[in-house]
Amino acid sequence: MKDLQLNKEGRLKHFLTIDGLNKDILTEILDVAESFSTMPAQKVNKVPLLRGKTIVNLFFENSTRTRTTFELAATRLSADVLSINIAASATSKGESLLDTIRNLEAMHVDMFVVRHAISGAGHFIAQNTAPHISVINAGDGQHAHPTQAMLDMFTIRQYKKKFDHLNVVIIGDILHSRVARSQIQALNVLGVKEIRVVAPKTLLPQNVESLGVKPFNNIEQGLEGSDVIMMLRLQKERMTSALLPNEREYFKCFGLTEERLKSASHDAIIMHPGPINRGVEIESSIADGSQSVILQQVTNGVAIRMAIMSLTMQSKGDVS
Ligand code: CP
Repeated sequence: MKDLQLNKEGRLKHFLTIDGLNKDILTEILDVAESFSTMPAQKVNKVPLLRGKTIVNLFFENSTRTRTTFELAATRLSADVLSINIAASATSKGESLLDTIRNLEAMHVDMFVVRHAISGAGHFIAQNTAPHISVINAGDGQHAHPTQAMLDMFTIRQYKKKFDHLNVVIIGDILHSRVARSQIQALNVLGVKEIRVVAPKTLLPQNVESLGVKPFNNIEQGLEGSDVIMMLRLQKERMTSALLPNEREYFKCFGLTEERLKSASHDAIIMHPGPINRGVEIESSIADGSQSVILQQVTNGVAIRMAIMSLTMQSKGDVS
């Protein structure tokens, strides 16, 4: 996998997973994103880094934040962007994924940004596409959502400056979450003090400790002294059996409330990749409260995606 993502010089060619990437690469992404993050405040909010390049957004699953921030990021890098409407494309007439890719390649595109319900779809495209094309994983099944993890790391660094002293807790449906898997990998690479996961037993993967986390089934214990709280929604679309009694019961035991928040550090930040379900995993007043950085995460998604798109294109030496 590492070989697929990196070129011979060890630079990012594709961005498919955090797995196999080292601290230097993740820090470079954060640093480049920081240089882009001030752009919206400037009069000229475009740079010509990807002028003449064509980026194709291929979203086989719904998205609000990821798709639009990728589009905005590509536009700010001066690339041409095609967002394929999958429901109205030939895929809905039975065309295979590979045939769709071959046809888009024939239009001389330079990058695919792919979201797919099947884990490994981005890797499959990267293995089978033309060598000059970069592939970025915008979320594949339950496997990975690496650009979300990087915008989360960027947000944590923005508010907490360093990683090594932080207790981070991830609360919710860990079992079905590609976001949690990528977050845990990135937090481990960047060297936080402790990563905790909080969920009912039915929503934790087996041997979850092997991911480098400390599991809790009690939310107050998991929150105790935490500096960063990362909430997740229940991913009902990926649940194949009844893993929970009902949403009300879940909120009663695992919802983040004002009362429970008192267990965390007084300056803890509250994060959520979205979409949020108010009153299911998080009390509405907390989602909109002073410790919430949920909308800042969305803002940071543009700069992180600009950084990842420009770095993958630079690794091929055809942009400076
Ligand atoms: N966080 C996230 O992936 O949101 P979307 O599904 O709206 O892209």
